[in-house]
Amino acid sequence: MAIETESILVVFIMFISLFCTFIYYKTRVHCTCKICHAYVTSSWSLEFNNLCDWYTHLLKNSPTNTIHIHVLHNTITSNHQNVEYMLKTRFENFPKGKAFSAILGDFLGRGIFNVDGDSWRFQRKMARLELGKTSMKSHAFEVVKDEIDHRLIPLISSFSRKEQGVLDFQDVFRRFSFDVMCKFSFGYDPKCLDMSLPMSELALAFDLASQLSAKRAMTPTPLVWKIKRLFNVGSEKRLHESIKAVNKFAQEVIRQRNKVGPCSNHEDLLSRFMATTKDPTYLRDIVISFLLAGRDTLTSSLTGLFWLLAQQPEIVAAIRTEADLTVTQQEAVTSFQQLHELHYLQAVVYEGMRLLPPIQFNSKFCQQDDTLPDGTFVKKGMRVTYHSYAMGRMETIWGSDCLVFKPERWLKDGVFYQETPFKYPVFQGGYRMCLGKEMSLVEIKSVILCLVQRFDMELASPPGRTPRFSPGLTATFTGGLRLRVRERGGHASLAQSKPHVSGTS
Ligand code: HEM
Repeated sequence: MAIETESILVVFIMFISLFCTFIYYKTRVHCTCKICHAYVTSSWSLEFNNLCDWYTHLLKNSPTNTIHIHVLHNTITSNHQNVEYMLKTRFENFPKGKAFSAILGDFLGRGIFNVDGDSWRFQRKMARLELGKTSMKSHAFEVVKDEIDHRLIPLISSFSRKEQGVLDFQDVFRRFSFDVMCKFSFGYDPKCLDMSLPMSELALAFDLASQLSAKRAMTPTPLVWKIKRLFNVGSEKRLHESIKAVNKFAQEVIRQRNKVGPCSNHEDLLSRFMATTKDPTYLRDIVISFLLAGRDTLTSSLTGLFWLLAQQPEIVAAIRTEADLTVTQQEAVTSFQQLHELHYLQAVVYEGMRLLPPIQFNSKFCQQDDTLPDGTFVKKGMRVTYHSYAMGRMETIWGSDCLVFKPERWLKDGVFYQETPFKYPVFQGGYRMCLGKEMSLVEIKSVILCLVQRFDMELASPPGRTPRFSPGLTATFTGGLRLRVRERGGHASLAQSKPHVSGTS
């Protein structure tokens, strides 16, 4: 018996040693180049607040604007010609790849965000068709307008009357965006911004599922989370439970909607997709993908923009002046069409996301050996990452004032003009460009306009050079965004009575 136990122990130790050796070589932690050493020992953090700031520094100083983190099998670039090559010219050779799909696969299933090839092509075609419809754009605008008028403004207004008037805007925008994306995606209102109600169970489960899925990407090798999943322990157990809760909810919504039938007058994305298929798994996957794609990115963009605006009163004044000149109805902000006429506001939004992109970097996996336009050789199976955060801070793209928040750089004779998406890949570019870009711009511009017209805001904590970010798939401020708010003269009584975003085109 004792001999048997001993042999089991020996086999177990041998297995662990082999496993560790495998991980050691798989992750190449033995690379001793200067960059890998700084990465592995985290010595970069002595000089930089955030990993993305260190990468920006390295990319700026590389003659090709491309670097290699060997220990991660990752080539990182901020060279716009490389970005165009990956996203357009050689798109088929740079898919998302199996590694990415595996990380989000349990949560997103086979939804558009998580697949390549024919499945992606089909979903993209359908989604583009639906989102391009004027009725869909008007629906998105109505959803945003309703949430601003009936929840966001009253909530901030009530805080502004308190003595301190300090509110964590990152939390407010997270709740706001979740409400908006749920109403838009399934026609369901989780009422997250209604602070008098307990947080919706769907929101809690969704939050946990997206956080824990993102955590998978941070393990040194996928084997770690795959083994935890196999034994259903720790974070993987919690992930499994939260996904189960999200699925239960989605299945119930789909079941209810099927009962009502296709003749219902629902405008949301789910109802539109139900007209083309009845497959509940496919329907669940696509709406969950949209929810994830939109919720955190919108929160992040609004948080970043308000952090910048709270430190730039002259830019806030210019937004107000443009609105006063463009919006004819006193107090009512605008119509869907009028939003397009606010060129300065559009420039503010683009400029803010240049400096603080919600998705700071994006990785693809190389299918076959390739050479990028800057001469970098990429081996089959390597990860290639374009770094939007660093690209927004490149003198070679934006000039010597690249670190200045200057909306005017997007205006020619007062009219907004776009840079190529390969120099500004905030919404990505090429064949997989973001499908929610227009909806995002409507939401972000509507929120900025309503809030700056009605409130004065300042940072409740001393300004920092750059915020500190928490690790994750989208940029989040560690510690939130605490702003002090005051209602501007003459607005207090209107807060409860008058809608601020009016009509659609
Ligand atoms: C400021 C807000 C947003 C930003 C910065 C943003 C950015 C991006 C980026 C960088 C991608 C490429 C991701 C990848 O392929 O790995 C993407 C894809 C996508 N986005 Fe957005 N997004 C935003 C909001 C939204 C919203 C509100 C929606 C939904 C209405 C949405 C729907 C999608 C979808 C469906 C894709 C996948 C497209 C495809 O793979 O063909 N996004 N977005």
